[in-house]
Amino acid sequence: MRATINGINLAYTDQGRGMPVVLLHAFPQSRAMWAPQVDALSKTHRIIAPDFRGFGESDAPLQHYTLDQFADDVAGLLDHLAIKQAVFVGLSMGGYTAFAFYRKYRDRVKGFVLADTRAQADTEEGRAGRFAMAQTAQTKGAGAVADIMLPKLLSPVALQTKPELVQRVRATIEQTQVSGIAGALMAMAERPDSVPLLSQIACPTLVITGELDGPTPPADGQLMAERISGARLEIISQAGHLSNLEQPDAFTGAVRSFLNSLA
Ligand code: MLT
Repeated sequence: MRATINGINLAYTDQGRGMPVVLLHAFPQSRAMWAPQVDALSKTHRIIAPDFRGFGESDAPLQHYTLDQFADDVAGLLDHLAIKQAVFVGLSMGGYTAFAFYRKYRDRVKGFVLADTRAQADTEEGRAGRFAMAQTAQTKGAGAVADIMLPKLLSPVALQTKPELVQRVRATIEQTQVSGIAGALMAMAERPDSVPLLSQIACPTLVITGELDGPTPPADGQLMAERISGARLEIISQAGHLSNLEQPDAFTGAVRSFLNSLA
């Protein structure tokens, strides 16, 4: 489905009925990464999964991207769908966006699942890495970004034993426009430190981390779970950064239990 939100065409999935659950995807992926969760959870919930601007089937204008803008796009989409409040599941960049969303629209958040993400801002080295990757995207294209990102997104075991999954994740990256890749890299580089926000998060929260997550290891999940009042940490065994794709049943099961606890 598509809607014009904040002046651009935003693509999204809207499937199922019941309590709305918004799935926010990782970088450089799209809502396609949520396929296993959309299938399973839409039997009991209304699942909304947007492609952020710059990704998937959404427009990818060459412009200044910010995570606040992503949050505004999500809020605009919810307005369009007449949804006041939802549970938000954000994985990695989706989690960074969840923090931005909470700063601006906390009344609309019924609960959070913060998966394979972190509250800390980038280090100087991390920021430099973003600019280098944007440069790679510009000079060599999205395929070169896929080469760099695949070993970060998937665990070594998955890279060796799940060729179909590897191909799917690669294909999504290769289909992403360079403007979106570079824009999101700049947006992530300039995101603020969300550690001070953690103690202000007042909604029920589940933190999920893949046991083998390299970019946002379990220690990052632990920090969020410790600082968010009442939050619970679930470590998904045998899963890397895209834990929802490497161990879809365990991931979906954890989200489902959390959703049931809110009902
Ligand atoms: C992601 O999966 O969204 C990215 O790895 C996040 C990041 O680069 O910080």
